[in-house]
Amino acid sequence: MKSFTYTGQPARVIFGSGTLSRLAAEIERLGCGRALVLSTPEQADHAREVMSRIGGAAAGLFDGAAMHTPVSVTEKAMKTVADLGADCTLAIGGGSTIGLGKAIALRTDLPQICVPTTYAGSEMTPILGETANGVKKTQRTLKVLPEVVVYDVDLTLSLPPALSATSGMNALAHAAEALYAEDRNPVISLMAEEAVSALARALPDVVADGSNRATRSDALYGAWLCGVCLGSVGMALHHKLCHVLGGTFDLPHAQTHTIVLPHAIAYNAPAAPEAMAALSRALGADEPGRALFDLAGGLGAPRALRDIGMPEDGIARAVDLALENPYWNPRRIERDTIHELITRAWAGEPPEAG
Ligand SMILES: [Fe+2]
Repeated sequence: MKSFTYTGQPARVIFGSGTLSRLAAEIERLGCGRALVLSTPEQADHAREVMSRIGGAAAGLFDGAAMHTPVSVTEKAMKTVADLGADCTLAIGGGSTIGLGKAIALRTDLPQICVPTTYAGSEMTPILGETANGVKKTQRTLKVLPEVVVYDVDLTLSLPPALSATSGMNALAHAAEALYAEDRNPVISLMAEEAVSALARALPDVVADGSNRATRSDALYGAWLCGVCLGSVGMALHHKLCHVLGGTFDLPHAQTHTIVLPHAIAYNAPAAPEAMAALSRALGADEPGRALFDLAGGLGAPRALRDIGMPEDGIARAVDLALENPYWNPRRIERDTIHELITRAWAGEPPEAG
């Protein structure tokens, strides 16, 4: 017998190739006409291209978005919103830019249009993490959920292979953990299995030939579904470990997630049989942890924490921190096994067979 709660997240999604041409009509559909375009300094060219496409509906550009959504940057952007009389935001980029659009929405309730250029998935979530004075505060509120998301496969054609691989694995982790989330439900589980299957199938081809629209489309489709999973249900051990490792040793986000995922999945395997059955179907393999380790290897992605800057003497500290205020997890968090997990991930060894 099933028992669950499912809450749909209201968002309009436009997916395809050449969908940037739909932006002007989407702004109008929202009843708006003065969009503040947002980007990082590195993606200002993309932003200018978008501005020329929407013509008179562009109020201006703020290209100062930065990692971890610093409140100081949001305050500058808020001044631009007021100066230009913007009535909506149009964020083009990855997590940093979309985070800025959410931070503005939190303060103004302005409608948001997002044009994602990576597989991170933030655009589908009501989650905002902001930093002030080096402290990150994360909140979940429907106020920050973007109204419209326009996925244009064409924008992902130039995503470099290494970034495509780790951004894709980072996304896949959201679907994998959704399958055993405490608040999982059948609808999100369907999406999660489909997401893992689409990404696992597409990523090797994307890395081999990033300019193929069909495989890029499968990867972006999978990434979209992963974003829905992240926005809908809670994450567990994998995310706890990555937050500890990333925060303590200043490790790169997507690579850390890519390395830890096979180990976290293998750890949880004995306690989450239904999730493992779904992952096995999606990955076409009996041992999902091992299959994810092999997938990352095939993509040429890093598989050892020591290769991305974690010191060996940090293992003991990471274990201590991982045991403090643990997230809900299907399997109990035990010191010895977590120590073993982190040691293997540090050395780049395959996950322990379940
Ligand atoms: Fe994540």
